[in-house]
Amino acid sequence: MHALDKWIKDNSISRKILASNLNISIASLSRYLSGDRIPKQEIMEKIISYTDGKINPTNFYIVKNNKNNNFSEYRKDHLLGIEDLKESEISSLLNRADDIIRENRIQPTVNQKYRGKTLVNLFFEDSTRTKTSFELAAKRLGIDVINMQIETSSIRKGESLLDTAMTLNAMQPDILVIRHSLSGTPHLLANKVNCGVINAGDGQHEHPTQALLDALAIRRRKKRIKGLKIAICGDIAHSRVARSNIKLLITMGATVNLIAPSTLMAEGLSDYGANIFNNFKEGLNEVDIVMILRLQKERMQGSYIPSAKEYFKFYGLDREKLSFAKSDALVMHPGPINRGVEIDSELADDINRTLILEQVELGVAIRMSVIEHLINNLEHKK
Ligand code: NCD
Repeated sequence: MHALDKWIKDNSISRKILASNLNISIASLSRYLSGDRIPKQEIMEKIISYTDGKINPTNFYIVKNNKNNNFSEYRKDHLLGIEDLKESEISSLLNRADDIIRENRIQPTVNQKYRGKTLVNLFFEDSTRTKTSFELAAKRLGIDVINMQIETSSIRKGESLLDTAMTLNAMQPDILVIRHSLSGTPHLLANKVNCGVINAGDGQHEHPTQALLDALAIRRRKKRIKGLKIAICGDIAHSRVARSNIKLLITMGATVNLIAPSTLMAEGLSDYGANIFNNFKEGLNEVDIVMILRLQKERMQGSYIPSAKEYFKFYGLDREKLSFAKSDALVMHPGPINRGVEIDSELADDINRTLILEQVELGVAIRMSVIEHLINNLEHKK
């Protein structure tokens, strides 16, 4: 039963009453609940507020998962989010990436194992690192890559996404990598296509491969994740990177401190076990890793900060604020960086203190690991 249907039952109301309160038709609500459509951001926000946060993106986007048996702990057909992953599944994805680096497989070689396989990159939002690294990862594995050129304006949301999914399915790719501004899009497609789906960022919901590569970078430098204290700072409210990282790091046994002005802090994150701070001095105390996030202006509706200059003064990371953390604390950033807004330019370039370029490099190995896992899982089902 869908979590929202259960909520309706527990609260003794009906789909009809809920639909009318959300100002949508019962037919639309039914399609959301069957996984055939995903709600727009404003409807999702109404659902969250109407249910006092009990129903939220975490339990809303449902995908039928066919588990199967093979060599690895990660047996899912897709990678849609960190949400339901167990520690052993995360470790399996990280360990494979470590093997790939050890075997030096990210260097160009001709790989026959995956010959004839196809990966489609379907990016409805801009991307430099993520898209390129998926392409590079697939090519290193000997997989053909198709980059779909999408004019965001020409594709309407809702039904037209399903048309896109069916068209792609007819081409029979093995892996579909999708980035979309609407949360839940990868889940919707995963219910419709026969191939493995990888979420490369959906709205402000999740960005699982970014969290995995961040975890790999941390584990390679600090030799562990468990027991570390990690601060995530900046525009938490609009950040899918933050959501995936919080879930992953807490699952792996780290302590997570979130530092943001109240306008940029998301609700409900303390439910995951994260600690909330609004200043660096307290939030960075004894911290091993400081993750900085960009102000996601494209996802903001309205004004959240007085000015970029003011923001930098209180929430931009510079050496002075970094000194509140452990003396060997390392700085991370998923990119793209806005120098002088969320991070001081000179600090961003200090390779002794930051892992920023290493993160980009490890992104290829992590994506190779994820692609290999999904292809092997799909092969075992045939
Ligand atoms: C992030 C994204 O797009 O979610 N970037 C990335 O994938 N490297 C974060 C961002 O855009 O700020």
